[in-house]
Amino acid sequence: MSAEFISVSFPNASNDLDPIPDAPVDPRYLERYARALDDYGFNYTLIPYSSSSFDPFTIGATVLAHTKNIKIIVALRPNTVYPTVAAKSLATLDQLSGGRVVVHFIAGGSDDEQAREGDFLNKEQRYERQEEYIRILRLAWSSTEPFDFNGEYYQFKQFRSAVRPTNGTIPISVGGSSDAAYRIGGSLGDIFGLWGEPLAETKQQIERIYAEAAKAGRTDRPRIWVTFRPIVAETDELAWEKAHRVLDRLKDNRERGLHRVAPSAPRPANVGSQRLLDIAARGDVHDRALWYPTVTATNASGATTALVGSPRTIADSILDYIDLGADLISIRGYDNFNDAVDYGRYILPLVREGIREREEAKKKAAA
Ligand SMILES: Cc1cc2nc3c(=O)[nH]c(=O)nc-3n(C[C@H](O)[C@H](O)[C@H](O)COP(=O)(O)O)c2cc1C
Repeated sequence: MSAEFISVSFPNASNDLDPIPDAPVDPRYLERYARALDDYGFNYTLIPYSSSSFDPFTIGATVLAHTKNIKIIVALRPNTVYPTVAAKSLATLDQLSGGRVVVHFIAGGSDDEQAREGDFLNKEQRYERQEEYIRILRLAWSSTEPFDFNGEYYQFKQFRSAVRPTNGTIPISVGGSSDAAYRIGGSLGDIFGLWGEPLAETKQQIERIYAEAAKAGRTDRPRIWVTFRPIVAETDELAWEKAHRVLDRLKDNRERGLHRVAPSAPRPANVGSQRLLDIAARGDVHDRALWYPTVTATNASGATTALVGSPRTIADSILDYIDLGADLISIRGYDNFNDAVDYGRYILPLVREGIREREEAKKKAAA
């Protein structure tokens, strides 16, 4: 049993509580944030993507340059870079950092968002294109001979890359909750990314992903990544007070047009967000401490489910997911920098201790 921790990196101090519209890169902030994640023992940090946001390759390169151990997860939409170019960019970063690169695929959940960068395929086609893209990356990284590709979305002749990943390949992650996401991530992903849902729903999703892996004839399975936005304080009571302050702030920012989702935004088109909103409609608190009002307040714009409580409560909640089969736990707060430090100080050690205790109990039971 093991688990690794993921954070998310942003290039400036703007966050959901104190948004700074169109804030430029703050190199010192990024360096300080990246170093804190590295020092506190996070294993990965996601460099997210949206049509209006910064270039994840250069932000990722900066994180790598300032750190020693943490790996970056570059969010990549296939419509934004030709696959042979991405294969080399990722492998270049991987060589520069001694093998610290992962790529996370985003098929694109919203037609409107995709259209902003000239992508007019429908979602099913976007997932089909993503499947070709993943196959091309793996060929580019492994093939020593020039090769042709004759797909529906990509055709080229005699491509060969001299830029190989440090450890032979680069892990490929897929995220989403639609049938196509399960099919492509289950059959081709090294990692499958999920947003934080209650334990029962998470179990169902994991089973779907594993079933797709088996159907594709795989003997291994994608590692499972689950995402939360913990709200932590010294005691449960203080954490709930803090959670309501966070919620008020999110609502207020959205009403004032300061949140990336407009107050009048329609129901989101991606299945992952629709699932979160449906679960939110069933109740505010699920399982130990999984809290949904932050989902409703932000129209489920990405990973928005909170875990609320003391470090003990949050660590126990995370351990529930690890017991269920999660391999990678993403925790990012609503106050990015301060929360990352709190998680590093108080939550990561408790979860790691919980894993050690489980390992020892297993060994004793087997003896
Ligand atoms: C862990 C995780 C991280 C994600 N990161 C991003 C991101 O940085 N940018 C983005 O546009 N979509 C991101 N997504 C969204 C999707 O990968 C996906 O394109 C979308 O949700 C597809 O919708 P579906 O649920 O209908 O399959 C992420 C999803 C997950 C699960």
